[in-house]
Amino acid sequence: MNKETVTITVLVENTVSRQALKTEHGLSFLIQTEDGNLLWDTGQTDLLINNAQRLGISLSSTTHKALSHGHYDHTGGLLEVLKMAPHAYVYGHPDLFVQRFIKKRNEVYSVEPVSSPMGKDIVKGRCESLILSPEPAEILPGIFTTGEIPRETDFEDTGGDFFLDIACTKRDPIIDDQALYIESSQGIVVILGCAHSGVVNTIDYVSELTRQGKIFAVLGGMHLPRASKERLEATAAAFVRYDVQIIGPCHCTGLKAITYLRSQFPNHLVECSTGSYFTFEGKQ
Ligand SMILES: [Fe+2]
Ligand SMILES: [Fe+2]
Repeated sequence: MNKETVTITVLVENTVSRQALKTEHGLSFLIQTEDGNLLWDTGQTDLLINNAQRLGISLSSTTHKALSHGHYDHTGGLLEVLKMAPHAYVYGHPDLFVQRFIKKRNEVYSVEPVSSPMGKDIVKGRCESLILSPEPAEILPGIFTTGEIPRETDFEDTGGDFFLDIACTKRDPIIDDQALYIESSQGIVVILGCAHSGVVNTIDYVSELTRQGKIFAVLGGMHLPRASKERLEATAAAFVRYDVQIIGPCHCTGLKAITYLRSQFPNHLVECSTGSYFTFEGKQ
């Protein structure tokens, strides 16, 4: 990556920071660099395209797409956005397309519009290349996916009742969950999808991959709505350990967890909602 600016725009999140934009339960970040444009997740519908248009951005230049995991609220807009940029490279984990379900209040819901068994062939037919790997991958210069994240902590879990079968007998470890990280000149910027691997596992792994003891920013879904006090405290302790300067919890993090993190890091917590944007300097 050259020393140009990297701009990160939140195209879709559950809440909104600019009135002209709309929201949905989902997540999508646009990352613009001198070397190319990348979409990290695509929200639940085609809303990312409409919001980008309202911001004066065309997504036809997003030649790279990377998906954090197969859940509908991160992959639902993929096929629509591929119509605008059909020669795109799409990155994800090999388990991105497995069938999966969530149990909520004794009801079972499918959480997989793009992840149906058919989804893989459809996506393959509509992009330049579908690259599925559990390994870290450099998507653009200085911008990497983590690939599969080792689950090392004893206080983190996927954060919900996720299953691989409709009878809900086989727990879904959401092994495809990954994060994105950017090597900026200010430090490492981590962008989460839902962090089903656990936020601490994720930043521990990014630290290991980059051999950096500090993480400059962590943005995205932290999936902590059911987190215990101990888990919240351990998450905050990790942010202290890595000296995280910018903390932007959003999407599936949960209000209670965001309130707690704000109380612990009043000078570091930032809004990360639809329309928010961040700029970092690329590393030379
Ligand atoms: Fe999500
Ligand atoms: Fe998810």
